[in-house]
Amino acid sequence: MENNANIQEYLNRAREIVEERSKKADRPLTFCVNTFGCQMNARDSEKLRGMLLEAGYEPSDSEASDFVLYNTCTVRENANNKVYGRLGYLHGLKRRNPNMKIALCGCMMQEDTVVEKIKSSYSFVDLIFGTFNIYKFPELLVSVLESDSMIIDIWKEHKDIVEDIPTKRKYPFKSGVNIMYGCNNFCTYCIVPYVRGRERSREPKDIIRECEALVKDGAIEIMLLGQNVNSYGNTFQHKVSFASLLNDVASISGLRRLRFMTSHPKDLSTELMDVMADHSNICPHMHLPLQSGSDRMLAAMNRHYNKKRYLMLVDQLRQRIPDISITTDIIVGFPSETEEDFLETMDVVEKVRYDSAFTFLYSKRTGTPAASMEEQVAENIAKERFNRLLERVQKIGSEQSLRFVGTKQSVLIEDTNKQDKNLVTGRMMNNSVVHFPASSDLIGKEAEVKILESKGFYYIGEMV
Ligand code: SAH
Ligand code: SF4
Ligand code: F3S
Repeated sequence: MENNANIQEYLNRAREIVEERSKKADRPLTFCVNTFGCQMNARDSEKLRGMLLEAGYEPSDSEASDFVLYNTCTVRENANNKVYGRLGYLHGLKRRNPNMKIALCGCMMQEDTVVEKIKSSYSFVDLIFGTFNIYKFPELLVSVLESDSMIIDIWKEHKDIVEDIPTKRKYPFKSGVNIMYGCNNFCTYCIVPYVRGRERSREPKDIIRECEALVKDGAIEIMLLGQNVNSYGNTFQHKVSFASLLNDVASISGLRRLRFMTSHPKDLSTELMDVMADHSNICPHMHLPLQSGSDRMLAAMNRHYNKKRYLMLVDQLRQRIPDISITTDIIVGFPSETEEDFLETMDVVEKVRYDSAFTFLYSKRTGTPAASMEEQVAENIAKERFNRLLERVQKIGSEQSLRFVGTKQSVLIEDTNKQDKNLVTGRMMNNSVVHFPASSDLIGKEAEVKILESKGFYYIGEMV
C-alpha cells in the first residue's frame, strides 16, 4: 500500500509540472505509447497509459507528441531493429519540439548491450527503464520533467508485485489480466527468462478481485496472461493449480468470455481440459506452442516433452472439447536442425492440422545457450524450410476454417473495418476474425452471426 501512496504523490507532482508547461505552450501536452511484442507488454502499456493520463497528458496516436514511450520487445533480432530504426525519426521530431521527452522501456532495455548502444548513439533519449520497475514510472517521470540529462533505471530482478497501478484499458470491453510474471523454463533459444526474471504468481484473491472489478465495469472478455500459465501457483507454499484458478475465474457471475495465454505443453493437465469443457464461457481455443516436432530438437531446446506426448495432448483436448481451435508457434532453423528434423515438424503439422500457426525463423539471442551452439543452420536452408512450412500451415488453416461456414457464432464486435466503414470486425469464441455489416454503435457488444464464407484467415458473416 505504501507503494501506491508514493505512486499517487509522484503523479500529483507530475500533473503540476505538466499543467504549468501546457499553460505556457497554450495547448494540452500529449503522450503516445507504442507497444512492441506480446500480450504482457500490451498489458504493461495499459498501466503506463493509465499513469500518463493521471499525470495530466492527453492521449494521442501520433508520435509527434510531448511524451513518447516505446515499450520494447527483444524476443527476435528484428524486434530490436525496428526500435533503432524508429529512434532516428523521433530525433527529428524532438528537434522541433522543446517539450518533447522520449522514453524507452520493456524487455530490450534489460540487455546491457542495448543500454550501452543507446547511451552512445542515441543520447537524445530522456528515460530508460526496464520490466521490473514499471510501478516506479511516476517517480521517473517527475525526474525526467525536472532534468535535461538521460535517466536510466534498470533492475535485474523483481522486488514486489505491486497491485492497483492506475490503468487505462485499450478496449473497455476486454482486458488482459496478469496471473504471473517472468519465466523459469529457459528454453535454450529464448531470451524472455533473462529479461523478465524468475517466475512469480499473483495471489488468487488479487486476480479474482481484479477480474470481478473488470466484469462489474463492463468487460465482456478477460484473458489471463503468463508465459506459462500451466505452471501457475508452483511458487506458492500452498499449491494452487491453474485449473483451479481458471475454474474460479470462469465462475464469476456475468463473465461472458475467458481466454488464457500461453500454455506450455509440458505442464498441460487433463484437469485443465476438464475445466475448459465444464464452462461454456471458457473459449474453445488452445494456443499450444510446438516449436519443433523432432524429439532431438525438443531436447536441445529444453522443452521437456516429445512429439508423442504433444500429439497425445492434442487428442485429449479434442476428445473433451470437440470443436476446439488449436493454434501454435513453430521455430525453423534451430541450431543443427536437419531436413529429417524439419520433416518431423511437418509431420506434426499434418497430424494436428492447426487452425493457425505463427512460424518463426530461429533468431540468435546473445546470452542464451543456443547462441553458442555449434552448427547454426545456414540462412538459405532455414528460409527454404520456413517457406515450405508456411505454405502448408496456411493451406491447412484455410481448410480447417471451412468447418465453421454455415454455423451460427457468437461474435464480440471489436472495431469498425479498416477498409470498409459499413463493416464491423469481431472475434468468435475460438478467436477467429469475422467481418460483417453492422453499425459501429455495436462495438463492444456480442452479436449472433451466421458465418457465410471463409477467406482463409478470416470470415465474412451476417447478423441473425
Ligand atoms: N512463453 C511462450 C512464448 C513466448 S515467445 C511459450 O513458451 O510458448 C513467443 C514465441 O516466439 C515462442 O513460442 C517461440 O516460437 C518464438 N521465439 C522465442 N524465441 C525465439 C528465437 N530466439 N527465435 C525465433 N523464435 C523465437
Ligand atoms: Fe521463452 Fe520457453 Fe519461457 Fe516461453 S516457456 S517464455 S519460450 S523460455
Ligand atoms: Fe517480447 Fe518481452 Fe513479450 S521479449 S515477446 S515483449 S515478454
